[in-house]
Amino acid sequence: MRQFLSTLALAGFVISAGGSAQADMFEKAKIMAGEAIYKEECRRCHAPDTEHASYGPSLENVIGRGAGTVPGYDYSIALEASGIVWTEAALRAWMEDNTGFLPGTKMRHVGIADRTVQDFILAYLRSITTRDGSAISE
Ligand code: HEC
Repeated sequence: MRQFLSTLALAGFVISAGGSAQADMFEKAKIMAGEAIYKEECRRCHAPDTEHASYGPSLENVIGRGAGTVPGYDYSIALEASGIVWTEAALRAWMEDNTGFLPGTKMRHVGIADRTVQDFILAYLRSITTRDGSAISE
């Protein structure tokens, strides 16, 4: 938690520093903050790569992919049949209230409604997405 807070402080510092030269640094700070939050809130169920098994599906390359499509993962019927594509907007709705967004999912409820916290997690998810999901990002 201490590391998380200092990362948030760093992100705040970078925001107030402003300017386009800081854009890259700002994105990196968001990724760092997002990674810290991911470790607290998501990592115990979601490996960030496909090499590690976890209780939930790996979130590598999640942005832009169809829901329920990691090969070999035993999804709920609800998620598999949902037709959801994981745009950033869909991921925000999921983080805010996944069980309301998709009744029948077997992921237990998470309620991350704070848009800034969502921004950080999305920055991290973009960093573990190797193909370009930008065309469908909002
Ligand atoms: C307690 C374990 C647990 C936690 C914590 C958790 N998840 Fe999940 N997640 C799951 C499970 C299980 C599924 C599969 C759901 C299903 O099949 O209905 C899932 C599915 C997903 C999916 C759909 C993936 C796909 O391949 O379609 C996304 C996206 C996701 N979770 C994001 C997150 C994020 C982001 C966090 C942290 C904010 C998080 N989850 C926290 C267990 C968890």
